[in-house]
Amino acid sequence: MSSTPARIISGTALAQSVREQVAEDVKALQAKGIHPGLTVVLIGEDPASQVYVRNKALACEKAGINSDVIRLPASTTQDELLALIEKLNQDDGVDGILVQLPLPSHLDEHLVIESISPAKDVDGFHISNAGLLMTGQPLFRPCTPYGVMKMLESEQVALRGAEAVIVGASNIVGKPMAMMLLAAGATVTLCNSKTRDLAAHTRRADVLVVAVGRPNMIKGDMIKPGAVVIDVGINRLDDGKLAGDVEFASASQVASAITPVPGGVGPMTIAMLLVNTLEAAERRANKES
Ligand code: GUN
Repeated sequence: MSSTPARIISGTALAQSVREQVAEDVKALQAKGIHPGLTVVLIGEDPASQVYVRNKALACEKAGINSDVIRLPASTTQDELLALIEKLNQDDGVDGILVQLPLPSHLDEHLVIESISPAKDVDGFHISNAGLLMTGQPLFRPCTPYGVMKMLESEQVALRGAEAVIVGASNIVGKPMAMMLLAAGATVTLCNSKTRDLAAHTRRADVLVVAVGRPNMIKGDMIKPGAVVIDVGINRLDDGKLAGDVEFASASQVASAITPVPGGVGPMTIAMLLVNTLEAAERRANKES
């Protein structure tokens, strides 16, 4: 056990400074007549999605980015959704398109994401953007792992040659996280739900990123003393409180630095969405000039 408790990596504070920088850059674009715009499409009534979408729109507004939320009923058909996305693809006032996930089960998530123009895919979920990231020429990076990289950078965590272990291999977090850490020179292990002896892997990690959606599953004794621990999980407990995927009380006695939940990775995801939307608008500005 480490004798001093871990440093807390505040995503709230870093996200604030990222958002202030975006707001400044948006002003500079506006002075050139370019008004960045994000359109968020929300289908159905998922309560968590409603909150996320509201927060995304609010963050845009504060940064001076035009935001439009299109709310559609859960009964929306695939053809209706694809027609809407095609209209947004053609709309020059829309720099970024984000279709909030999860979608109702009758809609084909892959088909919907692939219908978004890669140049407007500020989530970075399109296969074209996934492929560009994988081959070291990223256009849009998925917001959550991008935010994690920003946190590691601001903490000056040495990644070249470091052992990075990721728990959770989703398309949204784990896989793109692996690509970004690999590009930074880390030796990457990507664990999944079938991994045997998970603790043997996590205990090797200089940098441990956990994104599985299971409250408190990573305990302090699964962490290498002095490791940097990034907890992507946001789980609502029965008592209404939020918990990460990492058991904070025990982990913070072992790690050298750790992200809290809430106030860790969550705020960074939204901040990086603004960064991506700004980048999309800057590319449009460069094309138009
Ligand atoms: N649902 C949960 N996280 C995300 C995200 O980052 N983007 C989208 N579009 N949907 C999500």
